[in-house]
Amino acid sequence: MSDAVKVGFVPFSAAPRGVLVVFSDETMKFGPATQKALGKAVETVKRAAAASKFKGKSGSALDILAPEGLKLDRLIVAGTGKKGDLKPEDYIKIGGATIGRLKSNVEAVTILAERPDGPMQPDQISAIAAGIRLRAYRFDRYKTKKKDEDKKLTAQISVAVADVAAARKEFAGNDHVVDGVLIARDLVNEPPNVLFPAEFARRAAQLRKLGVQVDILDVKAMTKLGMGALLGVSQGSEHEGRMVVMRWNGGKKSEKPVAFIGKGVCFDTGGISIKPAAGMEDMKGDMAGAACVVGLMHALAGRKAKVNAIGAIGLVENMPDGNAQRPGDIVTSMSGQTIEIINTDAEGRLVLADVLWYVGQKFKPKFMVDLATLTGAIMVALGTDHAGLFSNNDELSERLTKAGRATGERVWRMPLGPEYDKQIDSKFADMKNTGGRNGGSITAAQFLQRFVDDIAWAHLDIAGTGMGAPSTDINTSWGSGFGVRLLDQLVADHYEDKR
Ligand code: BES
Ligand code: MN
Ligand code: ZN
Repeated sequence: MSDAVKVGFVPFSAAPRGVLVVFSDETMKFGPATQKALGKAVETVKRAAAASKFKGKSGSALDILAPEGLKLDRLIVAGTGKKGDLKPEDYIKIGGATIGRLKSNVEAVTILAERPDGPMQPDQISAIAAGIRLRAYRFDRYKTKKKDEDKKLTAQISVAVADVAAARKEFAGNDHVVDGVLIARDLVNEPPNVLFPAEFARRAAQLRKLGVQVDILDVKAMTKLGMGALLGVSQGSEHEGRMVVMRWNGGKKSEKPVAFIGKGVCFDTGGISIKPAAGMEDMKGDMAGAACVVGLMHALAGRKAKVNAIGAIGLVENMPDGNAQRPGDIVTSMSGQTIEIINTDAEGRLVLADVLWYVGQKFKPKFMVDLATLTGAIMVALGTDHAGLFSNNDELSERLTKAGRATGERVWRMPLGPEYDKQIDSKFADMKNTGGRNGGSITAAQFLQRFVDDIAWAHLDIAGTGMGAPSTDINTSWGSGFGVRLLDQLVADHYEDKR
């Protein structure tokens, strides 16, 4: 993350070098600043467009190497479709797609932020810059020999704009949100021998630099609190569990906080109910929920969001050693409710049960949103383009759905209901930790709901979206950082003081 690509802003009049990206529509028209930058080369471009049947369609691009009459290595004309075709959510993709067209060895790139009908607005420019940084991300820390596709872009990247000060001001906050996403991706991509609970907690503690209060609770502290559900999961590992509580106080003192809770299973072998070998390496990403919460807290604190926000993550490793918990064990959660362990691989809900209860009781937040790579079943239901949304509150659900559409981090609401309770009722305890194959994601959420009391709550099952999701214009990383932009948007839209 520290060596992530940066984006600068320059005025339209700055002379571009290296690669220049300009925009045209389906009529092959250019805006005035673009015409000026191209000069007589406009004719070259029109001929090249005709020769390659470039029609300015949205998402298409015309590529001209060493364009005659211009001191450039390459000119890219990106289509914007019919006039006015660009939707707000397209700009971030434009930024990403532009970077996707470049080789790692280019020296300088300028993107001229002008549509044929005039200069792009600060929010659109900011989205382009965000898309650039998100797409340029590479996780290459452990590659000692880098192939071309592993190499980071080292180019100087500039966006040429009508009003530099306005663009800088608008992007300042967004830049921190992007950093938050990249932090989350780094955490998800890190190998599990490096990123165990105590190390994860240390990385979360870096947030102190931004003014976030970070408390780390160890096994002793969690034992004192009675967190038998979380501790039961972590007891089979050489690595002790941790809970990290992060507090950003950017709002009025009197305002109740909003709260975000993350599943942080640093590695999930399944425990005694051990998983098959094939693909088990992916379970290093079973802490994507916790990674998102850390990234989100970075975003909120970085941009000094006017909100009081709590981030809480339960960090454990689910391992099968001689001290591991068994199917048949009964544990007592912090809430006092008892849980019969049927399958030690249904560990995420056990971790979340105690963290949800802790946060609900201690902070009485306005709402709680938890994120968890909770069930394989959510991928069966929704694939990898929507996270599952489960909630006891329609308003919160609608707000999350809207924020999902705006950011492209989409969520799809799934049902909850007392009918599902019988699947998790236990013969021997208050409940059991699995509800059978049918509705596997729903019974998992129904289980979590038993630990939220009457607080407005939403659960996001990100098993399909947080890791291993297909590449997009703005992400080619295995760990996607899903949820950071979504929840930052939710906070920005509805929960910040308008002082
Ligand atoms: N971490 C897994 C869920 C998961 C699977 C995330 C694949 C990402 C990709 C979770 O802890 C788990 O093992 N869930 C079980 C629950 C079952 C035992 C009730 C599952 O989904 O199979
Ligand atoms: Mn599991
Ligand atoms: Zn898991």
